[in-house]
This record gives sequence, C-alpha cells and structure tokens, in this order.
Amino acid sequence: MSIAIIGAGNVGMALARAFTQRGEDVVLGVPDPAKYAGAVAALGPRARVTATADAIGAAELVILAVPYAATASIARSVADWGGRILVDATNPLAPGLAGLSIGTTTSGAEEIARLAQGARVVKAFNTTGAENMADAAYPGGAPCMPVCGDDADARARVIALATRIGFDAVDMGPLAAARYLEPFAMTWIHLALVQGHGRDFAFAILRRH
Ligand SMILES: NC(=O)c1ccc[n+]([C@@H]2O[C@H](COP(=O)([O-])OP(=O)(O)OC[C@H]3O[C@@H](n4cnc5c(N)ncnc54)[C@H](OP(=O)(O)O)[C@@H]3O)[C@@H](O)[C@H]2O)c1
Repeated sequence: MSIAIIGAGNVGMALARAFTQRGEDVVLGVPDPAKYAGAVAALGPRARVTATADAIGAAELVILAVPYAATASIARSVADWGGRILVDATNPLAPGLAGLSIGTTTSGAEEIARLAQGARVVKAFNTTGAENMADAAYPGGAPCMPVCGDDADARARVIALATRIGFDAVDMGPLAAARYLEPFAMTWIHLALVQGHGRDFAFAILRRH
C-alpha cells in the first residue's frame, strides 16, 4: 500500500521515520518541498518529499499530519477520493492549547469525512505524542493506539500499520468514536504540557486475560 503523509512537522516526520525503518516507502506532501528536502533526505531512500497534490495523487493511503485548520482545503482538493484511505492524525486544538475547538456532537474527523468525497476516513495517530510515534518502544509494554472509522477494511489496514510500528492498536469502531479520541488526545497534552509530566510517557491498556 503506497503511503503519503501530508505535513512534515513533528508527526509527519515521526511517522515517516517509523514507517521507513520498517521498510515502507513514504511520500511526504508539503506546500514548500524545498524547505524539508534536507530533513527528508536524512530519512534515507525510502522517503521523499513533494508538493501536497503530487503526494496525494500517488498514494492509496494518505495521512493528514497538518494543523487542523489546513484539513478542510486538503479534503476538498480532491474531487473524488475514490475509496482511498484518509487517516486523520490531527486534533482540532483551540488556540493556546486551551481545549478543542469542536467536539461532543461531532469531531474533526467527521468534519473531514464530510468534505472528503469518496474517502474512507480513519482516525488514528492523534492520541499520543510525536516522539512515541517515532519510537513506540517502552519497557512496560506497547502504548495503545485507538483507531476508528466507518469502513472495516480501512480500519483494519490502519490497525495493521499502527501495529507494525509498535503500538497496541485498538479497534474503536465507527468514525463517531473520534468524539472520544480527540478529547483523549487532550488528556495526553494536558498531562505532558500543563501538568509537567513531559513527553516521555504513553497510555497503555492493561488486560487480565
Ligand atoms: N505534535 C504532536 O505530538 C502531535 C501528536 C498527535 C497529533 N498531533 C496533531 O497532528 C497535527 C500536526 O502536528 P505537528 O506537531 O506535526 O505540527 P507541525 O510540526 O506544525 O507540522 C505541521 C506540518 O504541516 C504542514 N502544513 C501546513 N499547512 C499545510 C497544507 N495546507 N498542506 C500541506 N502541509 C501543510 C507544515 O508545513 P510548513 O512547515 O511549510 O507550514 C508542517 O510540515 C496537528 O493537527 C496536531 O494537533 C500532534
């Protein structure tokens, strides 16, 4: 499955590093590819960077790793996504990390799905810090990665990708569960940045059986 990552910041580069280290090819899409040429070259031959539209055009699975404000225009930029998988790793953060700008009765992911005609939208890679996406290894076990989306096949493929890079990927069912996952991301952010726990922690699920 060909993978495009839109955005080459903290999350985009972290996922690109994790995927390429496991033998996946990735294309990063950004407005100004030259700005990221050096950083992407350092990831090795499995990664390349190009303009956003070219990256989207080449991929079966597209990961949105951009500020939430940029998602609407990207979703609308393709007239028909033709069943391709669109993974929403964003969070609709309010200014100053004061909370979320939308929620409870909808979610960022559902708003993206409304705009991305024909896309199979999956929410994933939004609930933990970028450092954990680059390297999910923890001494206590695998961090969890909740995944939701309305298409079972798309969800399963993203669960497989998250598992491949070291997460305990958890099937959260339909896309409306993003209404829980975006506030869950705020829990990590609040602990990390407001309560002073730093970024070197992750949530995991403990099971009796
Ligand atoms: N940071 C985390 O630990 C973390 C964890 C989970 C989820 N998230 C979410 O993931 C998203 C990305 O966060 P981040 O920390 O990676 O942000 P970031 O470091 O600011 O990177 C954002 C990237 O998106 C690019 N971009 C902006 N507008 C674009 C557009 N219209 N088309 C294509 N690319 C565009 C930027 O390019 P330019 O540099 O050229 O502007 C940049 O490469 C956010 O929604 C955030 O809430 C972040």
